[in-house]
Amino acid sequence: MNSNDSDIVRAVLLNTHKHQKDHQYEEVSTTDEADVVLLNTCAIREHAEMKVWHKITELSSLQTKFSKHKKKQKQVIGVLGCMAERLKDDLFQSGQVDLVAGPDAYRDLPNLLGNLYDTNEHEDGNRSVMNVQLSLDETYADITPVRKYKDDVSAFVSIMRGCNNMCSYCVVPFTRGRERSREMTSILEESLRLFEQEGVKELCLLGQNVNSYHDASAGAMIQQSQSKYQYSTSNDGFSNLYRLRGGNGGGYFFADLLEGVSNISPELRVRFTSPHPKDYPPELLQLMAERSNICNQLHMPAQSGSNEVLRRMRRGYTREAYLELIENVRSTIGEDVAISSDFISGFCGETDQDHADTIDLMERVVFDQAFMFAYSMREKTHAHRKMEDNVPHKIKKQRLAEVIDTFQHLVQRKNEQCEVGKIRLVLVEGKSRKSTKQDPQLNGRTDQNKRVYFKNEPCSISGNEFSSRIILNDSTAATSNGDNNKNNIVRLEKGDYAAVLITEARGHTLRGEALWRTTSTDFYSDHGIDIRRSADVGLRTNI
Ligand code: 5AD
Ligand code: SF4
Repeated sequence: MNSNDSDIVRAVLLNTHKHQKDHQYEEVSTTDEADVVLLNTCAIREHAEMKVWHKITELSSLQTKFSKHKKKQKQVIGVLGCMAERLKDDLFQSGQVDLVAGPDAYRDLPNLLGNLYDTNEHEDGNRSVMNVQLSLDETYADITPVRKYKDDVSAFVSIMRGCNNMCSYCVVPFTRGRERSREMTSILEESLRLFEQEGVKELCLLGQNVNSYHDASAGAMIQQSQSKYQYSTSNDGFSNLYRLRGGNGGGYFFADLLEGVSNISPELRVRFTSPHPKDYPPELLQLMAERSNICNQLHMPAQSGSNEVLRRMRRGYTREAYLELIENVRSTIGEDVAISSDFISGFCGETDQDHADTIDLMERVVFDQAFMFAYSMREKTHAHRKMEDNVPHKIKKQRLAEVIDTFQHLVQRKNEQCEVGKIRLVLVEGKSRKSTKQDPQLNGRTDQNKRVYFKNEPCSISGNEFSSRIILNDSTAATSNGDNNKNNIVRLEKGDYAAVLITEARGHTLRGEALWRTTSTDFYSDHGIDIRRSADVGLRTNI
């Protein structure tokens, strides 16, 4: 979320020359060279904030050293994002921070920086500027993010901001404000541009509560008859008080948007994050089942497996409703769908039995990926006001370790049983970090969002040509910069789709062997065999 926001900040600052009174900015590659350093921050747990404080201290101590030698003007240090919104002018107290801007104030950055420089010219003393105003409608829809990694084959597209859920442990509704959705047309335009002009092959639709998307703008309302979907929760066991209080109406829902983006091209993959389990209505699952370019993966943050804890967390569902949803997901999309989750250990009042219920839920579902945290009390939240953070630190850590251990153990077994021996469609993202000249390695992700590492060896030009592995062994015949049609072999490059045979599971990541270069369309149609649907396709007969 923050890297996408930083791309918006980059766009705002690099375009300031358009307004004559503004200063001009350019990006530099090291902090030392910079006149302004902006830290885009997270406030979700204390640990996230500690990291920012360390960075601020490091920057200001470097600066003191630096300015002594070079007599350079003091660097501006700015704190952006959720920590800025949470702490506001408290951030100035240490004397190290000059600028504070919340998540809805990025358009104001040229102005804030301008004020800072003007103040500095007049009074050579303390200076500080701040905008932490939250907005009901800011989506930065008209700002084209300037991507930091321009060659990346995947990109984020922000579709909504804020969260109305008010889970009792979570600070996000206070730092990111109310939910608001960006107009569907503007999202489709950006997605099309990324695919057609920037070579992006995978989009991740982004929002704090992404599947609660609802474009109720005038344009969407006029065309509302075109929406095939009406709002409903995932199943009866989920509540959505906010929506039922009147936010339902016409317009476009998440399934409309997902369908629209997936229509851009079968060669463009689509994922989304971060969702809430309440917003997976049957129509959305059906759409995911029908479209091979909507990735076979979904995030379903459970947080806890105990009904009592879920109630105190104000999650709006029970473990039974959650498990029923998992069943619906697997029966609609297929057993092959990857499911990930978030868990919090040691929430207020969590007992040994509650913790055991979480482990039990993990064992029942067997998640493909999990993000697991120890509970961190945040000010302003309902839990902070009304509950006691009474699970001792040591117990929290023990339970968290057990949750992590359970996940790792289960995912290793699942991947060994279900992934090894399968041929997966992998979008090649580039060289892996361990790649060397002698041992070139690539990496990419499967449709299920599992990272796969594989040797950058010549592979077959297509599934048709792929009749025997002998071709693969003829590495001398390959050229390093493209096709060698004569030998029907090719070297894979970033942005290619490859059919990869999974050979080994290492926790939630995989190792494999690239077999042939392909397209998403070819892979999934593959002479009438729908690889995606047949969970036990295993090693295909022609290998
Ligand atoms: N303490 C620990 N984890 C938290 N999360 C949100 N708030 C807290 C908190 N106060 C976790 C949740 C959420 C993820 C993004 O961060 O699991 O899904
Ligand atoms: Fe926080 Fe997610 Fe709950 Fe919103 S839905 S309050 S972002 S945990």
